[in-house]
Amino acid sequence: MARYLVTSALPYANGPLHLGHLAGAYLPADIFVRSRRMNGDDILYICGTDEHGVPITIRAEAENVSPRDIVTRFHHEIKDSFDRFNIEFDNFSGTARPNHAKLSQEFFLNLLNNDHIMVKEEDQFYDEQSDRFLPDRYVEGTCPKCGDEKARGDQCDKCGVLLTPFELINPTSSLSGSKPIIKAAKHWYLKLQDFEKDLTTWLESKTTWKDSVTKFMLGWIRTDGLHERAITRDINWGIPVPLDDPDAVGKVLYVWFDAPIGYISSTMEWAERIGKPELWKDYWKNNDTKLIHFIGKDNIPFHAVIWPSLLMGQKSDWILPHDIPANEYLTLEGEKISTSQNWAVWATEAAKDFPTDTLRYALAANAPESKDADFTWAFFQARNNDELANIYGNLVNRTMTFLHKEGGVVPEANYNDRDQEHFTYLENKLNELFTAFEHYKVREACKLMMDLAREGNRYFDETKPWVLRKTDPERLNTVLNVCLNTLRILSFGSYSIIPHSAEKLWNMLGQEGILSLERLNTVMKNSLPIGQQLKESEILFRKIEDNEIKAQIEKLNKQSGNKKMEETPIKESKPEITIEDFLKLDLRVAEVVAAENLEKSRKLLKLQVKIGDESRQILAGIKEFYSPEELVGRKIVIVYNLKPAKLAGELSEGMLLAASNGDKSLLYLVDPGDISSGSSVG
Ligand code: 2FM
Ligand code: ZN
Repeated sequence: MARYLVTSALPYANGPLHLGHLAGAYLPADIFVRSRRMNGDDILYICGTDEHGVPITIRAEAENVSPRDIVTRFHHEIKDSFDRFNIEFDNFSGTARPNHAKLSQEFFLNLLNNDHIMVKEEDQFYDEQSDRFLPDRYVEGTCPKCGDEKARGDQCDKCGVLLTPFELINPTSSLSGSKPIIKAAKHWYLKLQDFEKDLTTWLESKTTWKDSVTKFMLGWIRTDGLHERAITRDINWGIPVPLDDPDAVGKVLYVWFDAPIGYISSTMEWAERIGKPELWKDYWKNNDTKLIHFIGKDNIPFHAVIWPSLLMGQKSDWILPHDIPANEYLTLEGEKISTSQNWAVWATEAAKDFPTDTLRYALAANAPESKDADFTWAFFQARNNDELANIYGNLVNRTMTFLHKEGGVVPEANYNDRDQEHFTYLENKLNELFTAFEHYKVREACKLMMDLAREGNRYFDETKPWVLRKTDPERLNTVLNVCLNTLRILSFGSYSIIPHSAEKLWNMLGQEGILSLERLNTVMKNSLPIGQQLKESEILFRKIEDNEIKAQIEKLNKQSGNKKMEETPIKESKPEITIEDFLKLDLRVAEVVAAENLEKSRKLLKLQVKIGDESRQILAGIKEFYSPEELVGRKIVIVYNLKPAKLAGELSEGMLLAASNGDKSLLYLVDPGDISSGSSVG
């Protein structure tokens, strides 16, 4: 049993959450935490809102209310979105709480006493029109690295580089739009250079981390070296600099100084709340704890360089991050998500329109793990209808309906080799699934979860309980028992991704309590008790209709005020044909029995299919959409009487039918359902 402390980036309490937030730092973390819990690990999941800094004051100024009002409002809104999406923290705090200020000030004073802080009088931008020194974020201009014109004085969002305001080309004040002047101001600086050597050694030792974290940071350190960075600011909202010095009056700690300390203060709040005020130490001061920070890529420098420096500089026994799984960005319908342009799907609104499990599944199946990923409503609909409803939901529905007709209790079983083979398959898949979870691979996990359901359908099709009902009641009992235990395993395997539906399924099986009581190492052994009464079954995933999707796209266009998305062009129709023309086509159901990648082709997969008793080879241009593993066992529709042809030097004896969208970015195989292979389609 391992001990984990998992955090998700503290979202700024300056606006609502959108799907991009969820996909980056929260959903992958929640999936990880649930899966580790089911593995029996000791795990704590910590978050809260980031309530300081100019993101808050900018909004407060725009709305003419106090920063505290903004923070209170969005803390609750954000928490509500997380609740709707079943993102389940052990503690959700906020950095404007007193315990947090106290701890942050202690961190500051320790760094000062340990000589890692220096004072400097430095030139700073000053806005004469507003009569104020400008915090970094209030200065805007062109990024010296990538040329983006919307860079801010602290960071360029486009390329991620950390900046100082003076590096910006053509700086302007975001308060008044004027060109700021330069004036001297005194500030406190963290001497990052003190940690350069230790940080380099530490980062170099992290060989399993994402390159986007280690390579990026080591590159930064090697190219520019580390230099002192100001950790105080001239704004009136934040944690006061804890010094008697008259120059410190009116100055607060930089938001990125106190924000990560929020991970600790939130843990302390948790310990206090559960009545074990010292328990936070088991996590933060114990080298056996694996501290994992889930973040979006714009937060990398702060978590992989600045935060560890703060911890190292305490000269105390704080642990350092064990891993920093940073995700890339989610784009929306091909465009960058933009809060200011309202090009976003707001989490709370989406949760009102659709079941959040479906949203979780679609976001996880397309998580921006190694590169940016695009969320489209068409993709969302397809994942729901073709996978959750047609594969997962269908298995649950057909099994439960059958069982209820047969008395609604778990029947006795006498497993044969076929059944054992089925359970072995499920066990192997489940282990692969939990390995994927462990390595934060939620996209792969979604595929593996669906493989469990596919295997269930395959078993059902193959054992044909509707025939056994008439021919072999004893075998029927066993088969139904296997099907029910398959649902049990499916519910266990899918809980981390779609907790609400998985728990419903668990309850339909007559099981009580939360799934996490069942552990990975026992789940295969604990089959359902014979004679257990099943609960009424319900449809887990409703179909999502085209008009619902259309409405979302219209809403997006309307709220963003400009029609960024092209309507899908209506395809021009082909020339009319007669029924005789159509009847020349011999369409048949085939079953894929083997599939492999054709190395020499970017697009083609080589499939071996069975049409009734006949075997054939078919080459299909679907490599970008399906992996060979997920095709095996699947039924498809083929043009049976197509003249054989050679593709990439291989024989293809037929063509499969698939639907794809206008720009060919999505493709789905035509699914003949349970119809047996060899049957005609027409
Ligand atoms: O980028 C952001 O939204 C920051 N509020 C993340 C802070 S993460 C942590 F350090 F608190
Ligand atoms: Zn840039």
